[in-house]
Amino acid sequence: DTRDPTSLRTPIVAVLGHVDHGKTSLLDKIRGSAVIEGEAGAITQHIGATAVPLDIISTIAGDLVDPDDFDLPGLLFIDTPGHHSFTTLRSRGGALADIAILVVDVNDGFQPQTLEALEILKRSQTPFIVAANKIDTVPGWNPKEDVPINDTYESQSDRVRQRLDESLYEIIGNLSDEGFSADLYWRVQNFQRNIGVVPVSAMTGEGVPDLLTVMMGLSQRYMKEEMEIDVAGPGVGTVLEVKEEKGFGTTIDTVLYDGTIRADDTIVVGGMNKPIVTEVRALLQPRPLAEIRTESRFEKVDEVSAASGIKVAAPDLADAMAGAPVRVVRDRDLEEVIAEVEAE
Ligand code: GTP
Ligand code: MG
Repeated sequence: DTRDPTSLRTPIVAVLGHVDHGKTSLLDKIRGSAVIEGEAGAITQHIGATAVPLDIISTIAGDLVDPDDFDLPGLLFIDTPGHHSFTTLRSRGGALADIAILVVDVNDGFQPQTLEALEILKRSQTPFIVAANKIDTVPGWNPKEDVPINDTYESQSDRVRQRLDESLYEIIGNLSDEGFSADLYWRVQNFQRNIGVVPVSAMTGEGVPDLLTVMMGLSQRYMKEEMEIDVAGPGVGTVLEVKEEKGFGTTIDTVLYDGTIRADDTIVVGGMNKPIVTEVRALLQPRPLAEIRTESRFEKVDEVSAASGIKVAAPDLADAMAGAPVRVVRDRDLEEVIAEVEAE
């Protein structure tokens, strides 16, 4: 057997929550912190996802994360829209995720899509933590850029602390009403049984070190075995969106969670009526920002390995379905792969 040995892939983290509660801002903040640390190149923007490697997480988290304690390569974040009309995108993100962050605005509290996201996580049994966001908007808040929550909490007035505590306990109460036992994350011993609530601000970065630390710890502790994959094996993924792209025709934005997909692979994709068997024409990644003025927004790559977000251009994708499986055939039996796609 000449295949590569098993290795650990990046856990897929879905970011879910009500509209405007700060999901995208939180990811922007994480990206921005890396830019400030002079490591912009290390965070890569994938199709529909952001990959943050372990050394960057460790840089942002400071003393909270020692990279030697971890062997997972980092985290792959999938942003989802909070608007009520995007239920299917949220379910897809939730179903794909190994772990999730439920973002709740501390002042706005639980809202309809917060509850909907909770239902999705319950159904898919996805472990998650709650980011109680926008703590900087608590009246009287004294911001301290990018510090762990403990450092900033200590420097707030009694009144401000009391206001924040009230909002946090309301969120914990709401979670309890939905059947989740939750507490402030530093009191949680077993993150599988109890939901940790992490106070953060996507604006000032306060609590972001804690959030990344908890996500890394949760993945390392409970997900490690599930992350063991044969990286060189035939790729497996899920279609997030089916999109027309100028010059490429119909493409599928795919999150790959197992193996590798190559630019010359035959793939089987779930279709409206029956599985589509087709050959990859191009694998596309977003271009780095510096090159945005070139004619195409995308750059062609020869192969990608899990976990990653990738746009696949191929003939006959018009009937491909969002949420459907994508499987690479390579040296496998085609009929067997078709049967697997049909069964999913
Ligand atoms: P959808 O994608 O539409 O569901 O929204 P979202 O959850 O991605 O929210 P987004 O990040 O777009 O933020 C919505 C608004 O809240 C923006 O104006 C942000 O600047 C603001 N915002 C987000 N996080 C914070 C925060 O921590 N503090 C403050 N003060 N404002 C925030
Ligand atoms: Mg958003």
